[in-house]
Amino acid sequence: MSKFLSRRFDTLDAYVPGDQPSDMQYIKLNTNESPYPPAPGVISAASEGEAQKLNLYPNPDGTPLIQKLAETYGVTPENVIIGNGSDELLAFAFLAFCDSEHPVVFPDITYGFYPVYAELYGIPYRQIPLKDDFTIDPADYFDTGANVVIANPNAPTGIALALSDIEAIAQSNPDRVVLIDEAYVDFGAESAVPLTHKYDNLLVMHTYSKSRSMAGARLAYAIGQTQIIEDMRKMKYSFNPYNVNRLTQVMGLAALCESGYFEKNCAEIIATRQYTEERLRKLGFWMTNSAANFVFARHPEFSGEQLYRALRQRGILVRHFDKPRISDFLRITIGTRDQMDAALAAIEDIMKEAANAQK
Ligand SMILES: Cc1ncc(COP(=O)(O)O)c(C=O)c1O
Repeated sequence: MSKFLSRRFDTLDAYVPGDQPSDMQYIKLNTNESPYPPAPGVISAASEGEAQKLNLYPNPDGTPLIQKLAETYGVTPENVIIGNGSDELLAFAFLAFCDSEHPVVFPDITYGFYPVYAELYGIPYRQIPLKDDFTIDPADYFDTGANVVIANPNAPTGIALALSDIEAIAQSNPDRVVLIDEAYVDFGAESAVPLTHKYDNLLVMHTYSKSRSMAGARLAYAIGQTQIIEDMRKMKYSFNPYNVNRLTQVMGLAALCESGYFEKNCAEIIATRQYTEERLRKLGFWMTNSAANFVFARHPEFSGEQLYRALRQRGILVRHFDKPRISDFLRITIGTRDQMDAALAAIEDIMKEAANAQK
């Protein structure tokens, strides 16, 4: 135990990101990154000329980027805030809206950072069990008296809620914030951004980390009505006003100007997801109905741990969660078609080896 760390963090379990090992060359299907590089315009935007301006602080509001985001989503700049990844915006939201009188609820199986933020800030939280089929029952989130955080599509299940369900949840919690984390929305779910015009308690978060191939740049944004964004800005300006660096701001703006590239990549990933699902099904896997850039799969004859380890030995990294209800599953990020073929071949090989061992 550290003699320096504040005692209030003695029991804090920090978030554990997916492995980034360097012992060998892996096919990385474990952190839901895009297999495609950023759009060509994004790369050229990070020019030498921009790098030469790094002696100067960035625009704290990210004004040009926010203007373009507002235009893209049919809102005004006052309705948008940018952050250093959605992790930072989530940290601002938990800090801004939750306290001992205003707890937070989220599903028992969801993005692992939500309970970490609640613990970090000492916020009481309740984890609402997903149904047996891993879907969310919207009625569980009606009139909660608490702030609500839902990833849509959810992670690691990939299952999406209908917009009508999100609306009903926002409507039934008018005095608390309903945060919809749409990190994976571009891969097949419907965005709740249009509902922000109608509900002042709705805060919708998007990230550049997945569908826009910019996980390394750390950029995300949240959209909501003016007051809720003003509250978020209060956190940002009390924590780190220059939270999005210069290069990331220009790259983020350039990415929005190449919507064709973005749409093509999303369509490609959706098609590769369908292809992967079909092949996994033929190998005996059961999967949730994913609307994200990953599949969540279980095999009746192999434990999640067993498959995870055997794949890792073969140079394929996937994500395994050693947690109740989901320890039998693997979350496999959708990569390129070639990467998925390699992963599927490795799974076939593992199965063959197990069958031979039984003979
Ligand atoms: C549901 C969900 N929200 C947020 C994040 C964090 O995204 P970012 O890279 O923007 O911090 C992730 C990352 O995996 C995620 O799965």
